[in-house]
Amino acid sequence: MAVLVVGASGAIGGAVVAGLIERGVDVRASSRTPAKLSLPESVRVFAADLNEPASFAAALEGVDRVFLYADLEHPEALVAAFVAAGVRHVVLLSSSSVTFPGAAEDFNGSRFLRVERAIEESGAAYTFLRPGGFASNAARWSWSVQRESAVPLPYPEAVQVPVHEQDIADVAVLALTGDALIGEKPVLTGPERLTLRQQVETIGAVIGRPVVVIEQTEAESTALLSQHVPEVWVRQIVKDWREAVGATPAISHEYERLTGAPSRSFRTWVEDNVHLFR
Ligand SMILES: NC(=O)c1ccc[n+]([C@@H]2O[C@H](COP(=O)([O-])OP(=O)(O)OC[C@H]3O[C@@H](n4cnc5c(N)ncnc54)[C@H](OP(=O)(O)O)[C@@H]3O)[C@@H](O)[C@H]2O)c1
Repeated sequence: MAVLVVGASGAIGGAVVAGLIERGVDVRASSRTPAKLSLPESVRVFAADLNEPASFAAALEGVDRVFLYADLEHPEALVAAFVAAGVRHVVLLSSSSVTFPGAAEDFNGSRFLRVERAIEESGAAYTFLRPGGFASNAARWSWSVQRESAVPLPYPEAVQVPVHEQDIADVAVLALTGDALIGEKPVLTGPERLTLRQQVETIGAVIGRPVVVIEQTEAESTALLSQHVPEVWVRQIVKDWREAVGATPAISHEYERLTGAPSRSFRTWVEDNVHLFR
């Protein structure tokens, strides 16, 4: 049987495809625009949109496990189509936001909860990967680090536990290559708490020149982010930063428990992506 990776063009989806190929798994990949995928010939590629369940018909033939992004409007219909096609295990890229108090009322938590619930109720086996904030969110600072050796921020003392996307992909690959993680809902974080200011300093240390924080008001930050990020996400990002000032977010040890290896640090993520900042 084969594994279908939905969102093979994504940072995590792409790493999941690579990990499955490495393990000799029969992998298929889908994207809304498959022409942009550059994959070995052994990987069959399909055009499919999460919001059009029927578009997955061809991709699902002979597939028993699926890696899935949660960016979908009608999870019940999509998951029903998966189960009808013979999928028995869905590995979902969810979010730690589902574990926060009030998640069901929160914009971010509720959209992931809805997808999780649809999968739970479908009868398929599942693994829900629940990462916290990604280290790769720092990629948004690329332009200002390169041009100005500075990062404008409204809440530089916001505390996060950034997780490397390769850690998330590793756990996804583990889930997709056996039954050991069926029913698991691991929260995945990085190994250390870091303020945004410490993340900026880490980038400076890796590229070998100081990078400073330029303090902004919330209104200035909102206006800047709105140039690149949809409004609903801008509100969420700024709210998350505001609420994280002085916080002590939990450090999860799930990556180590599941893989036996230590989780990757933020510094490792910067080293792996140093081209973004030089
Ligand atoms: N950033 C964070 O801190 C954070 C924390 C927790 C969870 N998350 C979640 O993690 C995900 C982002 O992961 P990433 O960085 O790997 O993303 P990414 O690199 O931006 O890739 C997103 C992928 O989702 C696929 N996709 C989106 N809408 C789709 C649709 N309608 N039909 C089919 N495929 C669709 C895209 O595929 P095509 O464009 O090729 O079709 C793309 O491959 C999001 O769901 C986000 O909510 C993020």
